[in-house]
Amino acid sequence: MPAAMTRRQALHRLAGFLAGSPLLDAQYASRADHQRTPGLDELASALEFEPIAHAKMTQLNYDYVAGGVEDEVALRRNRKAFDWITLQPRPLAAVTKVDLTTTILGQPMASPLLVAPTGGQQGVHSEGDVEMHRGASAARTTMCVSHVATFPLADIAAAATGPLWSQLYVHLNPTAARERIDQAGEVGCKAIVWTVDAQYTSLRERLRHGANLGERTAQGAQAQVAARRRSRARGGRPSNPYGLNPETPDLTWDFLETLRSWTPLPIVVKGLLTAEDARLAVDSGADAVVVSNHGARYMPHVAATIETLEEIVDEVDGKIPVLVDGGFRRGSDVLKALALGADGVLLGRAALWGLGAFGAAGVQRVLEILQTELTLAMAQCGVASVAEIDRSLVRTDFP
Ligand SMILES: Cc1cc2nc3c(=O)[nH]c(=O)nc-3n(C[C@H](O)[C@H](O)[C@H](O)COP(=O)(O)O)c2cc1C
Repeated sequence: MPAAMTRRQALHRLAGFLAGSPLLDAQYASRADHQRTPGLDELASALEFEPIAHAKMTQLNYDYVAGGVEDEVALRRNRKAFDWITLQPRPLAAVTKVDLTTTILGQPMASPLLVAPTGGQQGVHSEGDVEMHRGASAARTTMCVSHVATFPLADIAAAATGPLWSQLYVHLNPTAARERIDQAGEVGCKAIVWTVDAQYTSLRERLRHGANLGERTAQGAQAQVAARRRSRARGGRPSNPYGLNPETPDLTWDFLETLRSWTPLPIVVKGLLTAEDARLAVDSGADAVVVSNHGARYMPHVAATIETLEEIVDEVDGKIPVLVDGGFRRGSDVLKALALGADGVLLGRAALWGLGAFGAAGVQRVLEILQTELTLAMAQCGVASVAEIDRSLVRTDFP
């Protein structure tokens, strides 16, 4: 039996092993390329979550979230338009305590922020919508679940206790829409958000180029299998070479009546950009509207939502709540919208970058950063509650 090794001998052998091992080289190599990823607590603004989320996602999933349609003019304009609004500071206004609470559609909320419905969350984080609900709940924020969420609505609802709204695409299949509405009622969702601005599938070039490079989002892979099956059935001819896909081309405002007959929940119409459509929404019995250009993912040359918000608020004239989304990344952006008459603001990509960077903790942190920035902006404008915010807080200089 060999004699037991002394400690000195063992260390000697380890040193010999390491000296001849490629492991040591690997360590030096990785040090040479080292880049430090900041920790959750180090991030100072919602904008800083995007590069971290990007580093953790495939390029195609990143492009799916970050991108807009065509030349992305509206995507840039959604952000740019906040620069055309200035806030009016008011010192000496007694703002010891700033209260963010509000009520929308009879639902008390900790702040006027909500998480917007977004599909494809599993491409951002493995637990996608489930994790998003955990983060939103931790920040006491209502989450609107996308109709095309990757997880079943019941699983998302069971993951946390915060309030949910349920977004609806009627697509070409009203039966599926009705089932979704029933599920939303069963799991306790507090509102149905009917998205009306997706008549046709939009052509996002970033995704087409990614697909040409062999990359697939989960949805893209499924769509491709289905397209191949259809093409085989046609003897190999591509069925739809330019990707022209109607989604809801035959729907009109009458459909709101049908939806109304299916559910007692409030119905929020999402995707309006003009006063004319806001009037139609009110006349058709909508309970609220969301001024939205779908994060610039459908129409390439539309106004920024913050530019059209005021004409819609004026038209609606307090009859129903007006919410808005599109490009919101700062608390001051939110205050500008509230000053122009919005009742609430939905966050799409900001919440997704939080999710991608740090899961539920990232979502919570993004929402809390925005709540903090909103508190600060309100204090500097001399308002201590959401109810006190009015048009006098902003000057607009839209082109
Ligand atoms: C990745 C992604 C997926 C989206 N999916 C949906 C969806 O399923 N249903 C919907 O009504 N809107 C969807 N939207 C639009 C958002 O609800 C919201 O209108 C938009 O993201 C707001 O702009 P922002 O991302 O600049 O905040 C999606 C947006 C993104 C970025």
